[in-house]
Amino acid sequence: MSTPILLDCDPGIDDALAIAFAAGHPDIELAGITTVAGNVGVGQTTANALAVSEFAGAPSVPVTRGSAAPLLRAARDARDVHGDSGLGGAVLPPPSRDAEPGHAVDYLIETIAASPGEITLVATGPLTNIALAVRREPRLPGWVRDFVIMGGSAGRGNVTPAAEFNIWSDPEAAAITFGAGWTVRMIGLDVTLQALATPPVRARMSEFGTLGDTLLLPALAQYHDSAAGGDPAVHDVCAVASVAEPSVFGYTPARVEVETAGRLTSGMTVTSFTGSGPGTGSGSGSGSGPNAEVATSIDSGAFWDLVLKTYSGLASSMSR
Ligand code: RIB
Ligand code: CA
Repeated sequence: MSTPILLDCDPGIDDALAIAFAAGHPDIELAGITTVAGNVGVGQTTANALAVSEFAGAPSVPVTRGSAAPLLRAARDARDVHGDSGLGGAVLPPPSRDAEPGHAVDYLIETIAASPGEITLVATGPLTNIALAVRREPRLPGWVRDFVIMGGSAGRGNVTPAAEFNIWSDPEAAAITFGAGWTVRMIGLDVTLQALATPPVRARMSEFGTLGDTLLLPALAQYHDSAAGGDPAVHDVCAVASVAEPSVFGYTPARVEVETAGRLTSGMTVTSFTGSGPGTGSGSGSGSGPNAEVATSIDSGAFWDLVLKTYSGLASSMSR
């Protein structure tokens, strides 16, 4: 029984690898993709989502364009990390289809509302679309099967000492999202910085034909994710992998509040594992009880066994 997911993303190298994972894993049904400005502008993230999903053998997955900028702040991209194209050194065939008409926010609401309790929503970019969706339809959190993000950190950030890129990009959207009444499964830097594409991992990817030669390896080769020091961290793959195999990660309940006013700490996911919550609930919604399951451990060996097995299967299907 496969799990239908909607992936809201900002491809982005690791978003692209997450799309490939979702397209390749037998227990995941990639039902739709929505895009947001983040790593690069929303026109580019949309083009990348179309190209990557088609390249990965999922040409019929609808892609719907979303927000071009954060709720309040100016858009700040990560082209220094992902390259001007957003896909590092990967050059893919142009997609044969366009994005769907309409806006991502409406698509998310309509699609989830049509299948209450069935769809897992995964967000691997700034949370602008998600915030707009829960404000437009406050019942949305009750209609999803699960809600998973790549974002945040209970510890240090990667853009500033306090903030991780997806949250830093749109702190107001993140605050709204964490305060929307659902339990956010937060796959943050605490675990994603342990999901490193090491030389042995990349050597395995070279066995995957055009999947490895055209997408995985050239993308990773120009992925300047400085926070990880040497080897690139496939942050967003962790979020989708957690849907396929939740046991790869360990989780701890927490109250997460998002800093939106700090001159030095804006975008910090202030995480209280006592569950009582550091905030007054202002900005991150009502209540002070746990609002998140924070990933606090990863079995890196099991993670890469899962990911490489999935890519191997995808590569085989692509070669047919
Ligand atoms: O901090 C890592 C996150 O920011 C990833 O989602 C990456 O794609 C960038 O969007
Ligand atoms: Ca991303």
